[in-house]
Amino acid sequence: MRRFLIAGNWKMNTLRQSGVALAGELAAVAVHEEAGVEVLICPPYPYLLPVGERIGGSAVQLGAQDVYFESPGAFTGEIAVEMLKDCGCRYVLIGHSERRAILGETDAVINRKVRAALAGGLTVVLCVGELLAERQSGQTEEVLDRQMEGGFSGISEAEAASIVVAYEPVWAIGTGVTATPEQAESAHEHLRKWLARRYSLAFSEKTRILYGGSVKADNAETLLSQPNVDGALVGGASLKAATFVPIIEAARKLAN
Ligand code: 13P
Repeated sequence: MRRFLIAGNWKMNTLRQSGVALAGELAAVAVHEEAGVEVLICPPYPYLLPVGERIGGSAVQLGAQDVYFESPGAFTGEIAVEMLKDCGCRYVLIGHSERRAILGETDAVINRKVRAALAGGLTVVLCVGELLAERQSGQTEEVLDRQMEGGFSGISEAEAASIVVAYEPVWAIGTGVTATPEQAESAHEHLRKWLARRYSLAFSEKTRILYGGSVKADNAETLLSQPNVDGALVGGASLKAATFVPIIEAARKLAN
């Protein structure tokens, strides 16, 4: 059985005080490791250390929202894998649609980041997802295949064991328009079949595939109860304990 991962992507939100306060509320809710549900938060870089300190001793995991693929050196403004590890990160998001669309990240860049993060011992949450126009023109599966081929390029099955896939249809991100459980399940099933073809059936069955895009307390349970949905990558609703904790609770209910 795959363990649910409920991840909060804070994006470019919170300040130190509000971020640390939120982390404290979550640490109080996820006190002990649970067999069925894992909780992850990804604050902005400057708050990794104080947020990490606040969740220390709890079961809440720390992740970053991006990373650079080079070793430390002359790369102004970038952050290396070993710096994230030094700040206590276990996870890193790579290939988020906002980085693809706004910052111009290509599949080739994303692949270099994935490889660097894996080599440095981080667990990667690799984000994939189609634009509205791509869905409307029936290209969803083709786009997902291309992003998966790019992201997983040159990565062995042993290495890929530290990758979590996040399906985030771009049209559902921050829009309040959530994918229907059927749309999510269909894309997740497609991604799992891709993993089975690329690696093995056993590997595909172990890999977690998260859904992201307007996940809220009132739709979390239906989405998480789909057979191929193994967790949620939550943006807006992860910024307040009052909206994030019910999503954790929905996963707990289904896991028990
Ligand atoms: P929202 O939950 O705000 O739609 O954001 C989803 C997302 O992009 C998480 O990475």
